[in-house]
Amino acid sequence: MSVITGKGRHRRKNDETNQWESGDEDTEIEVKEKVVQEPSTLTSSKQEEPLIEDDEQNIEDLSSLRDKSRSKYLQRRQETKLEELGKEIKSYQDRINSLTYREKQDYEHKKNIYDLVKGRESLKRDSEQSSEYQLPQDYVNDRKRKLGVLNEREKVQEVELEQDQPKRNRYDSQWERDQLDRATLGKSLAKPDAINLPGQEDYEYVFDESQFVDFEEENTLEGSNKDSELPTKQPEISEASSYKAVRESLPVFSYRERFLSTLESHQILIVVGETGSGKTTQLPQYLHEAGYSKGNKKIGCTQPRRVAATSVANRVADEMGCKIGQEVGYSIRFEDESSDKTVIKYLTDGMLLREFLTDPELSSYGALMIDEAHERTVSTEIILSLLKDILKVRTDLKLVVASATMNAQKFSTFFDDAPVFNIPGRRFPVDIHYTKAPEANYIQAAITTVFQIHTTQERGDILVFLTGQEEIETMQESLEEAATKMDLKSSDNQLLICPIYANLPPEQQSKIFEPTPPNSRKVVLATNIAETSITIEGVSYVIDPGYVKENVFNPISGMESLVVVPCSRASADQRAGRAGRVGPGKCFRLYTKWSFYNELQANPTPEILRVNLTSIVLLLLSMGVTDLIGFDFMDPPSPDTLMKSLELLYALGALNAKGMLTRVGRQMVEFPIDPMFAKCLITSSRFGVTQEILSVISMLGESSNLFYRPKDKKEAADKCKEKFHQEQGDHLTLLEIWKEWVDTGYSSQWCQDNYVQYKTLKRAREVREQLSRLCIKAGISVDQKDEPRADSITQMIQKSITSGFFPNIARLSKMGDSFRTLKKNQAVYIHPSSSIFPTKPPPKLLLYHELVLTSKEFMRNCMLVDDRWLSELAPHYYNDKELDLSRK
Ligand code: CDP
Ligand code: MG
Repeated sequence: MSVITGKGRHRRKNDETNQWESGDEDTEIEVKEKVVQEPSTLTSSKQEEPLIEDDEQNIEDLSSLRDKSRSKYLQRRQETKLEELGKEIKSYQDRINSLTYREKQDYEHKKNIYDLVKGRESLKRDSEQSSEYQLPQDYVNDRKRKLGVLNEREKVQEVELEQDQPKRNRYDSQWERDQLDRATLGKSLAKPDAINLPGQEDYEYVFDESQFVDFEEENTLEGSNKDSELPTKQPEISEASSYKAVRESLPVFSYRERFLSTLESHQILIVVGETGSGKTTQLPQYLHEAGYSKGNKKIGCTQPRRVAATSVANRVADEMGCKIGQEVGYSIRFEDESSDKTVIKYLTDGMLLREFLTDPELSSYGALMIDEAHERTVSTEIILSLLKDILKVRTDLKLVVASATMNAQKFSTFFDDAPVFNIPGRRFPVDIHYTKAPEANYIQAAITTVFQIHTTQERGDILVFLTGQEEIETMQESLEEAATKMDLKSSDNQLLICPIYANLPPEQQSKIFEPTPPNSRKVVLATNIAETSITIEGVSYVIDPGYVKENVFNPISGMESLVVVPCSRASADQRAGRAGRVGPGKCFRLYTKWSFYNELQANPTPEILRVNLTSIVLLLLSMGVTDLIGFDFMDPPSPDTLMKSLELLYALGALNAKGMLTRVGRQMVEFPIDPMFAKCLITSSRFGVTQEILSVISMLGESSNLFYRPKDKKEAADKCKEKFHQEQGDHLTLLEIWKEWVDTGYSSQWCQDNYVQYKTLKRAREVREQLSRLCIKAGISVDQKDEPRADSITQMIQKSITSGFFPNIARLSKMGDSFRTLKKNQAVYIHPSSSIFPTKPPPKLLLYHELVLTSKEFMRNCMLVDDRWLSELAPHYYNDKELDLSRK
C-alpha cells in the first residue's frame, strides 16, 4: 500500500532548530580554540606587507607554506578532538551498565567514529603521505570560521589594522578573489573564500597519481530499485508522439490511477518521491487530463527556482506538443510566458504568492501543486499557510504538496494529517567516497577529481555541485583550459562542460539535457538546483564539495549577508543520489567522513528562520494579515525578526504609527522587489529622477555579473572599467555605464569594446522596462521635472537612493582605517571591486547596497552620502546620538 495516513503528530517546534542552535554553540568553542592555536602556525608578520606584482613568486611560496601550516594545524586539531572523544568514550565505558538508551546510542556512535579515525590514522602512518597534491584541506575550519564570524560580528570588535590592503584599484571577480586572498594572507588559517585558485595561471596540467585527491570508500547509499541490477534505459525520443513512451516509462506512471483516485476523496495530498520519478513533469498533466482544469481553470505548479520553472515548462510543452506560452506556460519574476490558453502553468513560488494580492482565493486555479516543498523557502511556506485557510472556502480546489524524500511528515501534520502518497523511485546504489584529509580549496580539488574520474573511471557523466554562478564560471574556465591542454577537446575523447545556474539564459539551459555524444563525457557544473529540482540523465559520478550559498539575516543587527556555508547531511545524500539514475554510481565527497557526521547538520534550516522578512511582512499586511504573531506559520520566525521588519516598514513610511498600511506602503506592494528599492522609486518621482533610479536599480540587480576580464587582456579591461568610475560611487558608475550603452543604441559591439557583458545589460534592460510599467501602474510618475531645484541631478539621485537604503549607512571609524555601521557600530570594509576603493582620503559617510561576508564583512556597491540627508530622509530611524556620529 502506498497510501498511508500520517501518524504520530509532531510538535510544532522542530528539532532542526535545536540542532542548529547547538551547532552554533559548538562553533563558538571551536573559534576560541582556533584563536589560541593560530599564532603558532602563522607565517611571520613580515609577509603580511602589501603585495605587488613582483611578489608573484613570493605568493606561491607563501601559499604552499600556508598550506603546510594549515595542514599541521588540522592534524593537531584532529588529535585534540580525538583525545576528547576518547575521554568521553572512556567515561561511558566506566558506567557501561547504567547507561540510558540515549547514552548508549551516543556511546556507540562515538565509538564508531573513534575506531574509524584511529583505523585510518594507522593506515596513514603506514603509507605516510607523499602526495604533492597541495590542495587544500580546510573544510572544517572554513565552516567554523564562517559561522564563527556570524556569531562574532554581534560583538563590537577592536579595530583591525589594515596594512595589507592592496593599493591598486581594479575589479573582476578573479582579481577580487586574489586580492581577498592576499589581504588575509598569513592572518587566518582558512581561505577568505574557497574559490581561490592559487597559481592557477601556470598550473601544470599533467596528472599522475601523486596529484590525485586521496579518497577512501566508506559506505554505499542503498538503491531504491527492486531490480537494480538492470540499468533502466529510457526510450529514445524522436518526435512528440514518442514522448508517450517516455512518459509511461517513468515510475510515477504506474501510480497514476491511485494518485487520481486518492485525490478524489481528499482535498490535500502530500506526494513524496525520489527525484526524477516524474512528479514535476507528470502530475500537473495528470491533473489536467483528469479534468481539474475544466471550467476555464488552470493547473498551477510552483517551483522555488526560476530555472526549474522555465526548463520544466519547456519540457512539458514538448511532451504535450505545444508551443511554450500556449497550453503550457510559465511565469517568473520579470518574465511571463503564459496566455489565456494556458492550462498548465509553472511559476515560481514568489510569483504565486503575489497572485494572492490580486486574487485572494486563487479562483483561476482548479488544482495546485506546491513542488519542492522540502526546500522550505519562505514563499512556499507562506503559500502553504495561506492555502490552509483558503481551502476551507475553496472546497473545489485540490492541493498537492510534493517533496523529495525529506520532511514529508511535517507537511502532513501541518495539514491535519493529510495522506502521504509515496512514489518509490528507482535509484541504483551509490558508493560514497570521502577524502582522507580535509580539503580547503574545494574548487581546485573538484577540478582534480574531474580529471581523476575521467582518467580512471568508466564512461558516465559527472555532476559537480558548486555554490553559485561565479564559482561555476571560474571552474568552467579552468576546466576548459585544462581540457584543451590535455587534448580533451578532440572528438574521440571529449570533455563537454555544461554550466547550470539561476541566471543562465534558456537557450543554454537546454544543453545540459541533450544526450552526451558517444566517446564524450559531460561535466555538469550546477548549483544546488541539480539537487532535486532538475534531473540530468546519464550522471554516474557526483562531486560534492559540501557547500551551499545562503542568505543569513541577523535580526538583532538587522544585517543580512550572503554566506557560503556547509550543506546539510540530507542535502549531501540527495546530491549523492543523483549518481544513481542510470546505473550504480559513485559520489566523491570533498570532505572527510568525520566532517560528514560531526560538522554537517542533519537538515537545512528553513529559510524563514534565517532571512530578512520585510517583503513578506509587507505582503502579508497588504493581504490583511495583521496578526503576524498569530499567523499559522509552519515554523514561526522569531518575534525579533518580525519586529525588525515592522520597524523598517515604519521607517520607510509603509506603515503609520498604528501599524496600518499607508499609501506609500500600498504603492510598494506593487513591486516584486525589496521594499527598500520600491521606496527609492517612490521618492525619485518627487525629485523627477525616476528614469535614473530605474536604471540604477535594474543595473544593481545585475552588477555582480557585469564585467569580464579575459586572461590575456586584463590591463585593458581594467582601464576600461576605470573610465566609467564616478567619484560619488558605484550607483552612479552603474548609471554611467547604462547611459553610455543607451547612447550607442544598445550596441553589442560597444559592450565588446568595453569588456561589459552584453547579456547582462540586455537583462537589465528587460527588468527596467518591467519596473517602468509597474511605476505607472502604481501611480508613480516617471517624468522628468523641469522646475528649478536646489539640488543637482546627481544629488537628487543620491537622495532618492538614500531614502530607501538609509539603514545601510557606515561611517569612517575614528582611526580612519575602517568603517562602522552607524546603527550597530560593526566593522565593515569597502569591497575591492568598488569604484571608491581605495579613495584617499576615505569618505566620511557611505551607503552600501549589500554586505558580503568572506574574510570580513565587505560592503558591495557603495555611494557617498551627506549627513544632512539622514535627518531629512530617515527621521524615524536614527536617534540624535547616531546623527551626531554621522556628522563627525
Ligand atoms: O519531479 P521529479 O524529480 O520527480 O521528476 P521530473 O522533473 O518530472 O523528471 C522526470 C523525467 O523527465 C526525468 O527523467 C528527467 O530527466 C526528464 N526531464 C527532461 O528530460 N528534461 C527536463 N527539462 C525535465 C525533465
Ligand atoms: Mg521535481
